[in-house]
Amino acid sequence: MKDPFFTQTLLDWYAEYGRDLPWRRTRDPYAIWLSEIILQQTRIAQGQAYWERFMARFPNVETLAAASEDEVLRLWQGLGYYSRGRNLLAAARQIVARGGFPDTLAEIRALKGVGDYTAAAIGSIAFGLPAAVLDGNVYRVLARFYGIATPVGSTAAKKAFTELAQALLPPDRPGDFNQALMDFGALQCTPQNPQCLTCPLAARCEALRSGRTALLPVRKPAGTVQTRRFHYVYIRCRGFVAFRRRGPGDIWQGLWEPYLEEGEEVRGFPGMKCLRSGVRHQLTHRILIADFYLLECEEKPLLTEDYIWIPEAGLDNYAKPRLVEVLLESL
Ligand code: ADE
Repeated sequence: MKDPFFTQTLLDWYAEYGRDLPWRRTRDPYAIWLSEIILQQTRIAQGQAYWERFMARFPNVETLAAASEDEVLRLWQGLGYYSRGRNLLAAARQIVARGGFPDTLAEIRALKGVGDYTAAAIGSIAFGLPAAVLDGNVYRVLARFYGIATPVGSTAAKKAFTELAQALLPPDRPGDFNQALMDFGALQCTPQNPQCLTCPLAARCEALRSGRTALLPVRKPAGTVQTRRFHYVYIRCRGFVAFRRRGPGDIWQGLWEPYLEEGEEVRGFPGMKCLRSGVRHQLTHRILIADFYLLECEEKPLLTEDYIWIPEAGLDNYAKPRLVEVLLESL
């Protein structure tokens, strides 16, 4: 091991302060895989309730594999990044088709929705495979402790940090070490105001020694975020509403939404009322600004053929993006 002080101190810290999470009390690879997919872009505080609901509804990979995409997306609703929900179902079917959960890194990595990070997390936690995880937490802890100023996001950084994390990994406890780094980054070595006064690594931390905790890790300047203008018209006609399912190649594939116009201007319909305007909705790489309108009519307006008329009383059965839920709440 490259640096026994670092590795052992971190493991000791984890034994005392690591978070008590339900998927850490099992070695069931299905439960661990599910937690890692949910936690890919979601905070633990929010993700845990989803994990519990999925485990209650789909206690094993066979029940999940047998579910419909619509049911999975409905349970997923609110987590965002719906391709993750779709990949979850596809991977469950891959696992069942191959006769059980894979236990090598290459085969885990081959599951839909599993990248390098998730493969290392599942492999190390569920099977004890010696694979280091690399995410924002790991970059931050290592950049500070070792005083590494390579800008994160570059391929050079990815290579250097992967090699370092891999060299620090204790072969007998890779899962604990990986989760220790995650928790340490989330609780102790936080992005803002790291808790250096109580830090067990402080005595040898290069960032602390040189007064650079606020400067490390070094980031590449962020790109600008794209803004999109959405105008939703909720068209209600004799108990029916116009909805369509969003297609591939854009956000929210497979989710349902009311009549939409995108752009600065809205043409809309005579007689529609504005419910709310300028509703901001943040996605990872863009911001949506949305207006909501209501049109109540006796005769169905002619719409493009991707819209269908569904009974308003049955809307719950359709998986919808969070923004559309916000619209429904404002009716
Ligand atoms: N984020 C992603 N996977 C995690 C895990 N196993 N524990 C804590 N945070 C995580």
